[in-house]
This record gives sequence, structure tokens and C-alpha cells, in this order.
Amino acid sequence: MKYITIALAKGRLAFEALSLLEKIGITCDEIKDKTSRKLIFVNEELKLKFFLAKANDVPTYVEYGAADIGVAGKDTLLEEGRKMYEVLDLGIGKCKMCVAGPSASKSLLHHGGLIRVATKYPNIAKDYFYNKKHQTVEIIKLNGSIELAPIVGLSEVIVDIVETGSTLRENGLVILEEICNISARMVVNEVSMKMEHERISKIIKDLKQILL
Ligand code: PRP
Repeated sequence: MKYITIALAKGRLAFEALSLLEKIGITCDEIKDKTSRKLIFVNEELKLKFFLAKANDVPTYVEYGAADIGVAGKDTLLEEGRKMYEVLDLGIGKCKMCVAGPSASKSLLHHGGLIRVATKYPNIAKDYFYNKKHQTVEIIKLNGSIELAPIVGLSEVIVDIVETGSTLRENGLVILEEICNISARMVVNEVSMKMEHERISKIIKDLKQILL
């Protein structure tokens, strides 16, 4: 039997996804050892391999077939725009993709003037402002701590994920517009879906059952 390889987005999401998998009898205790520097973990009995990757790289591994299955946030999937099947909403890692900023920026958004938008998600921001709102904006790509941008005068607004809202609150920022809901999804490589149809569909079916 061939191994089925599962790529998980590193961090809290991976652990939440692993507990869902545990509920359907798919276990991998070794991966939970946070001190380990190992990259690949194997469940010999089930012929499964697991690896942890940077969230943005999960869709890449899955599209190229280096992983048969992936777990990543919808934010990452939208941003990366890669070709694969999105088979399941895992209902974990729930948050919202939002336009946020100081409340004074609300009128700038409404007047449709040229504003600067700082974000880790340039493709999502472009799609929202250009295709949905038909507003020309300048997108400034950042890699983290996006909330800093409007505070230090780099941009008028940001496009970022909001979970509890505390980062915005603690920095005097508010949600100005909601773009979409985000949660973790299971994705499958298109060829793997055909070649390993039986085993992969069973995983999807079992997960659906416990997600009901
Ligand atoms: C994310 C996001 C926000 C924050 C939202 O950042 O970019 O900054 O979490 O969460 P909250 O609404 O619960 O405050 P993350 O912690 O992933 O780090 P980053 O700044 O490197 O993007």
C-alpha cells in the first residue's frame, strides 16, 4: 500500500486538525512533541505520513502532489490561488477577513479616493478592492504585525484576519468592512483524489460524520 501524505499548516491549526483526525482513529503521537526538529512523521500501521509546513506553502505541496492532503486556512487558499480540490470545512480556526483601520478612515473608504492598504494578503486585497469594490488602491505587502501600518502612517487601512478583535481594540483600530469568513479547510491533490479515491474518501466521510 502506498503512503498517503498529509501536510498541516504549522501552529495551533495543526494541533486542532490532529485532534479531529484522532477522533476518526488517525493518530500520530510523535508529531505532538514540540521539542522535536523532525520534519516527517509516519504512522506505519495506517500507511500515513504527516508533515508540518508554513501555512502559505501547504497549497503548494498539495498542488504539486508532494502532499496528497492538506489542512490550511481559507485565507491561505484564497491568497495562494492554487489548483486543488477543497473538500471539507473543518470548522476550526474560525475568523474573518476584514478591512480595518482607525475609524477616521471610514470616510476615505466610502469616498473611493486613492488609499494605501497594508496587508499580508495582497491577492485577497486586490480582488476585494479592484473586482468587488471597483476602487483603485495602493497595496503595500507586509509580513506580520499588520496593525502597525495605520498607526505609524504607512497606510490608511489594512486587510487582515480578525479573530477575537483584541489586536485591533488594543491598538485603537476598528473593523471597517468585512470581506469574508475564514476557517480551516481540507484540500486534496487532484490526481491523488483519483488514484487513492477509496482511502481519501473514507477520511473525508469519517470527518464529515464527526463534524455533524
Ligand atoms: C493575526 C492577525 C491579527 C491577529 C488577529 O496575527 O494578523 O494580527 O492575529 O487576532 P485577534 O483578532 O484575536 O487579535 P498573528 O498572531 O498570526 O501574527 P502576525 O502579526 O505575524 O500576522
